[in-house]
Amino acid sequence: MSKQATLTIGDKDFPLNILVGTENEHAIDISTLRKESQYITFDDGYGNTGSCESDITFIDGDKGILRYRGFDISELAEKSNFLESCLLLFNGELPSSSEIDNFKTKVFSHSSLPSSVEEIIKTMSGNTHPMGVLSAALQALGGCFPHLSTNTRPADIESFEEAASLIVAAIPSIAAKTFRSSKSENTPSANNAFSYCENFLHMMFGNESAESIDPAVSNALDLIFLLHADHEQNCSTSTCRMIASGGANAFASLSGAVSALWGPLHGGANMAVIKMLNEIHSAGDDGSQFIQSAKEGKSRLMGFGHRVYRNYDPRAKILKSACDQALEALGVESPILDIARNLESSALQDEYFIARKLYPNVDFYSGIILQAMGFPTDMFTVLFALGRAPGWLSHWKEIATNGKRIHRPRQIYQGSTHRPYVALSDR
Ligand code: ACO
Repeated sequence: MSKQATLTIGDKDFPLNILVGTENEHAIDISTLRKESQYITFDDGYGNTGSCESDITFIDGDKGILRYRGFDISELAEKSNFLESCLLLFNGELPSSSEIDNFKTKVFSHSSLPSSVEEIIKTMSGNTHPMGVLSAALQALGGCFPHLSTNTRPADIESFEEAASLIVAAIPSIAAKTFRSSKSENTPSANNAFSYCENFLHMMFGNESAESIDPAVSNALDLIFLLHADHEQNCSTSTCRMIASGGANAFASLSGAVSALWGPLHGGANMAVIKMLNEIHSAGDDGSQFIQSAKEGKSRLMGFGHRVYRNYDPRAKILKSACDQALEALGVESPILDIARNLESSALQDEYFIARKLYPNVDFYSGIILQAMGFPTDMFTVLFALGRAPGWLSHWKEIATNGKRIHRPRQIYQGSTHRPYVALSDR
């Protein structure tokens, strides 16, 4: 028998259905509440609001669980790779080898950008942040493929596979072109002898052959992308779904998601971690003064804390050991790494952080690895976007296929009540 909840307002009872997820999560369905009672619910920041039903990713923040389509992130990190996980996210099942080959061929075939997209990148890259360039370039890319970005549902759903492989292929090319253009350098063409990550490193840093790319580096990069591939209804994914709910195509929806990811409390945190570590170093601190100022609320320990994980972020756990291995392979040692290690061990033993369940999140380590690999700080969030693109695309597909209505939250208005207009001469 399905359970019900009852909300009592004054002397009236309102029965409400209970929705139960496959992992036994319970939600009170209030979708008819306003119609029946004139009341809406209030949940500033949506911390307690389920915005949709989804079968893509499951997170249990208290237990530190993250699963894509039912598969544990630790198992995928060990046995899968980024491109395979893209197909898993898009289609819901682990792909066959012919599906993987077909996808790789399609991705490789799209690695050269249309010249008009290259022109936009060149024009913008001198004075616009790479995240702004990426957002604009995705819109421009959609414009170059009008049959994949029609803003008409059946057509855009039918061409999803093509649009998705184009976007997965284009983001590394856009990132490399942005980086190279900012230094007035040409970008080497993609090389089909290379893997997806090797190709990206080749376009970014100009390695001549796959042999010159350290496997520890390309494997760590692949792992970073896989770990970022989806994270259910976070700020940028919810933005993507919100845009898609209005009927927009995947390119436009991802362009908006990129802007949402940019902020320092979301994807921008990996940049903020390095900025914080450099500032601590310049101040001659080993991290202990900074920890004190974070406890006093004067600063925030970037790369710590998470809205959902109140236990260790499972991605951070995996990335911490990959980080140690990659740094050893790269032979990197720097004072800011020592500061990061100090901050981590002090915070994990400190009552302030323990009581608030603040643990390192994925951004604490990803920034450190990316810097050791030679990526400039302002490219870090672009790499996050590259990794998250399959998640956004899967959510776009889910809402395009199953979404019933445009997303449109309500509000509690707290502004002026009605008042008459005052003529300029009387103000
Ligand atoms: N450093 C110091 N104190 C913190 C931190 C932090 N990083 N994060 C939270 N707190 C404290 C808050 O001050 C608050 O303390 P109080 O109860 O004494 O007032 C308490 O912990 C709860 O914090 P909230 O801000 O309510 O937590 P919320 O869930 O809203 O925020 C967030 C989560 C934004 C991730 C926050 O922890 C933060 O700002 N972290 C640093 C930025 C960061 O690393 N972002 C990346 C997130 S992961 C991602 O996007 C991939």
